[in-house]
Amino acid sequence: MQATTRTGGLITGWGAALPDKVVTNEDLVATLDTTEDWIVERTGIRERRVGGTTAGLAVEAGQRALDTAGLSPTDIELLILCTTTPDMAIPSTASLVQDELGTPGGAVDLNAACSGFVYGLVAAHGHVALGYERILLIGAETMSRVTDWDDRNTAVLFGDGAGAVVLEATGGVDGLLGFDLGSDGSARHLLEADIGGFMRMEGREVFRRAVRAVVDTANRAMQRAGVTIADLALVVPHQANIRIIESAARRLGISMDRTVNVLETTGNTSAASIPMGLVHAVESGRLHGGDLVLLVGFGAGMSWAAAVIRWGTGA
Ligand code: ACO
Repeated sequence: MQATTRTGGLITGWGAALPDKVVTNEDLVATLDTTEDWIVERTGIRERRVGGTTAGLAVEAGQRALDTAGLSPTDIELLILCTTTPDMAIPSTASLVQDELGTPGGAVDLNAACSGFVYGLVAAHGHVALGYERILLIGAETMSRVTDWDDRNTAVLFGDGAGAVVLEATGGVDGLLGFDLGSDGSARHLLEADIGGFMRMEGREVFRRAVRAVVDTANRAMQRAGVTIADLALVVPHQANIRIIESAARRLGISMDRTVNVLETTGNTSAASIPMGLVHAVESGRLHGGDLVLLVGFGAGMSWAAAVIRWGTGA
């Protein structure tokens, strides 16, 4: 494609998908040495959805995002699938999604674990700057496949799901005001899984680093966007643990009622959690044209990412 110097992209479509099967804390208490109270108090999670494939959930969420944007798959020039739970080692899961949806352009997987969707959003804006008109960006995960359901340290935390957005070039108004991407691979041992294996996690240390990473990356993104926390309508944080979100919100100086939280019913869905939070915010009427929103994620890697975006066209 001929490279251009176009700037400006806005989210024009959104959609989410969850598997039908609900696994409650009560279900987990039946097989694990844990209690309902422990899970709720330490994590904020009451239930999670489990099942399906990463590609299947991505297709469902992607089709919904296309529908709300009023587009058909053939309008899409690039499909970016953010996932840390691909369906196959080869090829990319994006290939399966591209084939199923029938999008004509490029298709690629992006893996930055729970920070993946924000990395993908920045990458999508970069492609818009190169001349792409319409991009489908999906975060989709089947964390249940890499979870050892006999390990109480991780089994209570994770779930499956997908969220998607359509990013369209505007030729003017820019939806991305500022961002920050980061990684510290020397800490990768804190949360890892071998190919075909289950996650191992040092939860306490991940927690400690997560709060710091969220606050620092959010502050850098806001500073680059030229905004302060008071300018934001909403913060959509990665949904790992309500206590991480509460600690980070306190340090950032934002009240919890200006954060978006879905983890009570979804658990941690890694790269799907931020787009699912975003979709929930729009569908419950919490986002209006021109609103400034901070998306902030952290996760395995360790990785972190934050972006300040302008919502819709009301700027
Ligand atoms: N039920 C009951 N007890 C439990 C459970 C459980 N499900 N899990 C752990 N415990 C025990 C521990 O063994 C420990 O017992 P001990 O004191 O006898 O050793 C005790 O509870 C306290 O353990 P902590 O690890 O200190 O508990 P904490 O309050 O830190 O909560 C948790 C643990 C929920 C894992 C928390 O540390 C956390 O959320 N960490 C971050 C995890 C995270 O966000 N991971 C995802 C990153 S995103 C990505 O990239 C996928």
